[in-house]
Amino acid sequence: MKYHFSDRVPKTDVDPVGNILKVAGDPKVMSFAGGLPAPELFPVEQVKKAADKVFDTKGPSALQYGSSQGVPELRNVIVDRLKIDGINTDVDHVMVATGSQQSIDLTGKMFLDEGSVVIVENPTYLTAVDVFRSYGAHFVGVDMDEDGMRMDALEQALKDNPTARLIYTIPTFQNPTGRTMTLDRRKKLLELAVKYDVMVLEDNPYGAIRWEGDNLPSLKSMDTTDHVIYMGTLSKILSPGLRLGWVVAEPKLIKKYMMMKQSADLHTDSLAQYIAAEYFAENDIDEHVQAITALYHKREQIMMAAIDKYFPKNVTHSNPEGGMFLWVMVPGVDDTQKLFDAALERNVAIVPGDPFFGNETIPGTFRMNYSNTPEEKIDDGVKRLAEAIREVMA
Ligand SMILES: Cc1ncc(COP(=O)(O)O)c(C=O)c1O
Repeated sequence: MKYHFSDRVPKTDVDPVGNILKVAGDPKVMSFAGGLPAPELFPVEQVKKAADKVFDTKGPSALQYGSSQGVPELRNVIVDRLKIDGINTDVDHVMVATGSQQSIDLTGKMFLDEGSVVIVENPTYLTAVDVFRSYGAHFVGVDMDEDGMRMDALEQALKDNPTARLIYTIPTFQNPTGRTMTLDRRKKLLELAVKYDVMVLEDNPYGAIRWEGDNLPSLKSMDTTDHVIYMGTLSKILSPGLRLGWVVAEPKLIKKYMMMKQSADLHTDSLAQYIAAEYFAENDIDEHVQAITALYHKREQIMMAAIDKYFPKNVTHSNPEGGMFLWVMVPGVDDTQKLFDAALERNVAIVPGDPFFGNETIPGTFRMNYSNTPEEKIDDGVKRLAEAIREVMA
């Protein structure tokens, strides 16, 4: 059979990131490559208890078709959680999605045509790049520094691309860099979005996992003109397997999202939504997030200490105040794959930077994850990685 795929389907079967994660999954490889939460902290017993209660009290509703907007009990929980990000809203402004990944997908489906410009941080979340590309996006990357997206570069990008449809940003503990956008830049970004009348897609999966510095207001909390669509998720604070995320936008837009969602999957898994709502009713989520934050901080500190000890001094890196990732920049390396290969020869895996860029890449960059590596293994892994870096630099 000869398949006649649409233009959305990648022309090649080569899946570089999939291949990296596959080798990284080899038990003898010490992987800093993935982006997985620490499974030892999943509240398995509490979720089981919540599931039992849902089956006992609302089994038929949980197993029935449901609303595209999501189960009201969970939307109430979400409205409550949004207050932490300074967003005071109501359930009419919220739609539950099948993870943030679906929120990104529906946004692409809703706003992009072939050739539409999407402005992204340079680098950005690689799976968002894949999604937007599948809807025909043309990417314009905006350079970052340690304070997040550079606003002079953003303004230039907006001037050069007056028809840009979206600015996609992860302002807090960004994936892949771990960087956080300062308050001044958040304000400036909003000012520019209004001035150039461009929609902003604010993705905030990691904001709650902060061990240092002050909580910064989300873009959405400062948005008075409905230029910001906000996305959140339970994946990093409860469980990614539940596949529960949410979109926050004005009701007019939520209605459109619901129409797009109906054609995608009718609605998000009702059983998962009821279980999550029940979990929140019976447990202290803040205490749970504190435990996650404490563990990731401990791992990050061990990784940073090992980097200071072993990496060549001219290798630079981000200094995350929360989240799950840090970004490393090795000078003088023109082919990032060489870093990956040299590390893998020493049974260590990282994700080379290239797939995180919408177009032009910065060679010699890579992402490291610390949330999913037991403390006692980190030092040795970083030591071996440092040897690989020295070999490639030489
Ligand atoms: C920036 C960013 N957005 C969205 C997602 C997707 O998360 P979810 O599990 O909610 O679909 C991820 C997952 O790692 C992410 O890093």
